[in-house]
Amino acid sequence: MTIFLTGGAGYIGSHVLLCCLEAGHKVVVLDDFSNSSPEAITRVEELTGERVTIWRGDIRDGTLLRQIFDRHHIDAVLHFAGLKAVGESVADPLAYYDVNLGGSVTLVRAMAAAGVFRLVFSSTAAVYGDQVLMPLTETSALAPSSPYGRSKRMVEQVLADLCAADSRWSVAVLRYFNPAGAHSSGRIGEDPRGVPANLIPYAMQVAVGRYPELVIFGDDYPTPDGTGIRDYIHVMDLVQGHLVAMKYLADRTGYHVWNLGTGRGHSVLEVIRGIERVINRPLPWRIAPRRPGDTAQCWADPARAAADLGWRTSRGLDEMLADHWRWQAQNPEGYLS
Ligand code: NAD
Ligand code: UFG
Repeated sequence: MTIFLTGGAGYIGSHVLLCCLEAGHKVVVLDDFSNSSPEAITRVEELTGERVTIWRGDIRDGTLLRQIFDRHHIDAVLHFAGLKAVGESVADPLAYYDVNLGGSVTLVRAMAAAGVFRLVFSSTAAVYGDQVLMPLTETSALAPSSPYGRSKRMVEQVLADLCAADSRWSVAVLRYFNPAGAHSSGRIGEDPRGVPANLIPYAMQVAVGRYPELVIFGDDYPTPDGTGIRDYIHVMDLVQGHLVAMKYLADRTGYHVWNLGTGRGHSVLEVIRGIERVINRPLPWRIAPRRPGDTAQCWADPARAAADLGWRTSRGLDEMLADHWRWQAQNPEGYLS
């Protein structure tokens, strides 16, 4: 198959790219490199011995998208390109609606014009917002609490409406929980621009000495140790979820939604202890007040993906942290190292 990967140089996209190439697919990547480096693709090419066709440009550029669909015979689209920082989305909501919602609408228009109707979309557990009942199933209420989460929820709605209006569409919406880890080679991984917003990348940068200490946002949550609980999923398990979802869509139409999580939550303190085991020394940390907008706990019920796709995660927190650490230790400054 020829797969069109938007945002293919990013953290998750680059890992999916690697596995698509290993599975024998041809891949065309579109990325504006606003939050990634072309070096990620070079490294994937080195690891696989395969070449990738790269288009540098913006997902909102309909003319460019038409050109890409004219030039390549695309069978399926995996859509990762977008903005993902919750805090930034509160400060600059228009950017999030423009890129995430506007970009997705532009993409599906270009797909329809080219007669390509198979799409896998990167959604997020952020569409559930602050919920009391755990674990979250795909039918849990949707109450996103940030413009980021709302922009993803809106795209989900657009895709559902599209599938209802035109039976040729075949769409998988994948709601990721908290991706972490890296490919076991240590050659590709998460390389956030600026100060990392997420726990594991920040803690790993403390471990390599880029920051003096980790700040724990709150130890007074109603959880067993008082710190926030999340469902951390190894990026390679997440990748497998995309491959099986794409296979599922091959002979089915309609709109399908799956949670991609492990079904298990870990607290911030558990993650810190895991990192300390991996780096074999204490990680400096201190407690600070809660981060506005954070929820106490969030973990998935992944039963639907298991039943429909036969997909289950196989990597636990320790392997995730060891792989993330290998990448960070070998590339302390990310792709600039
Ligand atoms: P990332 O920022 O590493 O990757 C996104 C890629 O899209 C980057 O390479 C970036 O340069 C590119 N991009 C951004 N805006 C673009 C535009 N206007 N035109 C073209 N390319 C553009 O993020 P990621 O962690 O790999 O996330 C991939 C997708 O998964 C995103 O849609 C994100 O919302 C979603 N997601 C991520 C997480 C997470 O915690 N990493 C969780 C849930 C959902
Ligand atoms: N945390 C800290 N210190 C930090 C960073 C985070 O204590 O420096 C805590 C948070 O308070 C939370 C936990 O670590 O309890 C996880 O926080 P992250 O920022 O790593 O992840 P979030 O669950 O807040 O959000 C992430 C992505 C969203 C995505 C969501 C899906 O940022 O884009 O997971 O569940 F939607």
